[in-house]
Amino acid sequence: MVATTLRTFKWFQRNSCTLRTILSLIVTVVMDSLGSSYRALVIGSTGTIGAGFLTALAQDPNCELVAEVSRRHNPGFDLADEASLAEATRQCAPSGPFHFIVDATGALTIDGHGPEKHLGALDATRLLRSFQVNAVGPALLLKYFLPLLARERTIYAKLSARVGSISDNSKGGWYGYRASKAAVNMFLQTAAIEFARKNPQAILAALQPGTVASALSKPFATPDHCTPVAESVEGLLKALDALAPKPSAHFVDFRGATIGW
Ligand SMILES: NC(=O)c1ccc[n+]([C@@H]2O[C@H](COP(=O)([O-])OP(=O)(O)OC[C@H]3O[C@@H](n4cnc5c(N)ncnc54)[C@H](OP(=O)(O)O)[C@@H]3O)[C@@H](O)[C@H]2O)c1
Repeated sequence: MVATTLRTFKWFQRNSCTLRTILSLIVTVVMDSLGSSYRALVIGSTGTIGAGFLTALAQDPNCELVAEVSRRHNPGFDLADEASLAEATRQCAPSGPFHFIVDATGALTIDGHGPEKHLGALDATRLLRSFQVNAVGPALLLKYFLPLLARERTIYAKLSARVGSISDNSKGGWYGYRASKAAVNMFLQTAAIEFARKNPQAILAALQPGTVASALSKPFATPDHCTPVAESVEGLLKALDALAPKPSAHFVDFRGATIGW
């Protein structure tokens, strides 16, 4: 019995590379850069893209643990309620330290109103609400969750959007969503500079997932033109896996291409 176990172990040692290759064909994606027992946390795991991350990470053999937190979990949190974010952090801390955190929260339709097509549609209350959900809340998530990252190579990723790129804006429209995503990009860039002093191995990244069919995109996207969520998440994980640490934030899309700020 012992001999059989030993033979099996030696065979596994010899063939582990082949096994990993086969496994990588079966599972969605294998993150290599965070080691063979990394711990992950998905914030906003009830959303389409958040759930996609949860599924992909649960299938990654290198991911030792994937925790989740969202508005609908108990205790839930609301991006507009800082005390609830602090409490969510307290609840998640025992599952850390984390090597990978992704914040997949966000909103495009605000209080039943879609994105503004022209200046005449701007409404102060809704603009502030968009900033609260897409920029201020995520900035507070940085405040509370960055300290839960491990002190080695770690990744904090935030679902942003290409429309948050000022240099890429050639179409106009979508004032509140665009501006709030540009703001969250600035929060990430500023936090990356500060956090690099504590952990030079840390990576902070703003992500563009492509157009993915979800509650958020449904009123504005035709299903035929959407990227399947599994493909988007796999691409984003591969893109993140390939990023090098630097004392500033990255802005990348699901194909691994860099987006200009
Ligand atoms: N889908 C796309 O085509 C697309 C394109 C570019 C960028 N993005 C970005 O990707 C991210 C995820 O989008 P998605 O398509 O997966 O949207 P989604 O399915 O609507 O998910 C949005 C997530 O945000 C959470 N959320 C919204 N408001 C919240 C609040 N006040 N407090 C706490 N949680 C809140 C939702 O919680 P509940 O489940 O409780 O509602 C849900 O978990 C967003 O940042 C979005 O801007 C998406």
